Amino acid sequence: MTQAPELPPFDHQPQPYRGPSSEDVLRLRREFLNPGLFIYYKRPLMIVEGKGQYVFDEHGRRYLDALGGIVTISVGHCHPDVVAAARRQNELLQHATTIYLHPNIAEYAEKLATKMPDDLKVCYFVNSGSEANDLALLMARAYTANYDIIALRNSYHGGNAAGMGLTAHRTWKFNVPHSFGVHHAIAPDPYHGAWGRDVPDAGHRYAADVKNLIEHATSGQLAAFIAESIQGVGGCVVFPDGYLKNVYKYVRAAGGVCIADEVQTGFGRTGTHYWGFETQDVVPDIVTMAKGIGNGTPLAAVVTTSKIAATLAQRLHFNTFGGNPVVCAQGAAVLDVIEREKLQANALKIGNHILAGLERLKVKHNLIGDVRGKGLLLGIELVKERVTKEPATSECVKVLESCRDMGLLLGKGGLYGQTIRFSPPMCLHQQDADFLLDVLDRAFAVV
Ligand SMILES: Cc1ncc(COP(=O)(O)O)c(C=O)c1O
Repeated sequence: MTQAPELPPFDHQPQPYRGPSSEDVLRLRREFLNPGLFIYYKRPLMIVEGKGQYVFDEHGRRYLDALGGIVTISVGHCHPDVVAAARRQNELLQHATTIYLHPNIAEYAEKLATKMPDDLKVCYFVNSGSEANDLALLMARAYTANYDIIALRNSYHGGNAAGMGLTAHRTWKFNVPHSFGVHHAIAPDPYHGAWGRDVPDAGHRYAADVKNLIEHATSGQLAAFIAESIQGVGGCVVFPDGYLKNVYKYVRAAGGVCIADEVQTGFGRTGTHYWGFETQDVVPDIVTMAKGIGNGTPLAAVVTTSKIAATLAQRLHFNTFGGNPVVCAQGAAVLDVIEREKLQANALKIGNHILAGLERLKVKHNLIGDVRGKGLLLGIELVKERVTKEPATSECVKVLESCRDMGLLLGKGGLYGQTIRFSPPMCLHQQDADFLLDVLDRAFAVV
């Protein structure tokens, strides 16, 4: 095993763990849980406690969590304000549904709406990103009275029928009907696509494919276009400037609405902006959010304009848990923490520090083909050879294993699992970033 650098000091003593062993948990999981669940490491890691940017295994060993529960821990594990808000509400009233009034859902909706540009102010609360995207499609179709949807190749939008239909990665698509009316445009990927970062109007050129698709694959009338603002599961693919601006123009000209999936890119993670779509200088008609919105609680949302929302009032629309008083209390606390602790600015500062460090590692290690991302949503794509860009899938696994051995948890993405993903809690410190870069450097040196 490679010699590990020391983790930065951290003032938190994990509680003694008295539960079942990881072997027993694995056995139970194999017997009683979905056999399709996957585990990252050869020796499965069991996490039983979290604090800030760190998690602890059952033996009290600390790890830097640079994946953040798959881009979900926005303000830090068990942030005291978020925990306190949940505790207070749990002791008062856990559930009643929206057939009665409750202040939390109303006040939280107002608070979330103040974060949105223009007329985006009507909030729908649901339980997951997949559900949010499903609802967004319903809204788009009901509002436009059109059927066809354009999504992007290399996208991930969820695991339910609607999300799977929008997703364009064979790894996540079951061989059952699910993509009715969905057409997938070329991914605006400057590393693999026809137009690279050296092409000044690449955004415009990739957008032309959407126009082409509208003309050839649909009646010319569109319900919606949906895209992640940075493709996360697809390996942190950042679109060229001008891409969404041009696409939105074509989509609206065909009668469609524009949906931004902010499940990974929202809440300040990209550093320069609160919402990922703002990095492309566009304002969508519908925005879906999940993951970081609740810092680990099952909270997700769809935000749209009053005009679009009015169409959805033609029928009853109800959801048992959406906007539950406890999750709304947590969601409101998350918004406050992001603001008070200036986590967006921190995401920019620490993200840029890591990005610069990753660029240095690229010069040193040939395995790194590409470095990309914004703020604390970063990725490095591993290739066997820089010219062919052949995915270095097994090498990626080895780097992740070696990093785990040294106390660093990272994510994986890309169609072939060839991209290492970084999406730590936004409270990451510079010392953590230095630790991360040091560990990666050592891991690459031995792979
Ligand atoms: C961009 C994006 N959209 C939607 C989803 C689906 O969210 P959930 O897993 O909460 O259903 C995900 C999940 O990874 C995602 O990354």
